[in-house]
Amino acid sequence: MTEIDVCIGSACHIRGAYNVVQTFQQMIEEKSLHGEIELKTTFCMRECHNPGVAVTVGEMKYNIPADGARDFFNSIFQVKIHRL
Ligand code: FES
Repeated sequence: MTEIDVCIGSACHIRGAYNVVQTFQQMIEEKSLHGEIELKTTFCMRECHNPGVAVTVGEMKYNIPADGARDFFNSIFQVKIHRL
């Protein structure tokens, strides 16, 4: 099980965190990954100084643009999906 945390703190909210969460939920549905990915939200990850929405995938931290959530998901999970 891989955990994804999306920051919904004030700065990330303004940068489109809601869209990121929605996109990730859609992607999990589309790819039937409910058993493999756990999507959570969290408050400020202290990454506000970086542009984009703060996201962690397992132990890795990322800052992604809200309109890049789909591409991000595909790039991160392409390898993992093939391993499942
Ligand atoms: S509000 Fe998202 S990292 Fe601070």
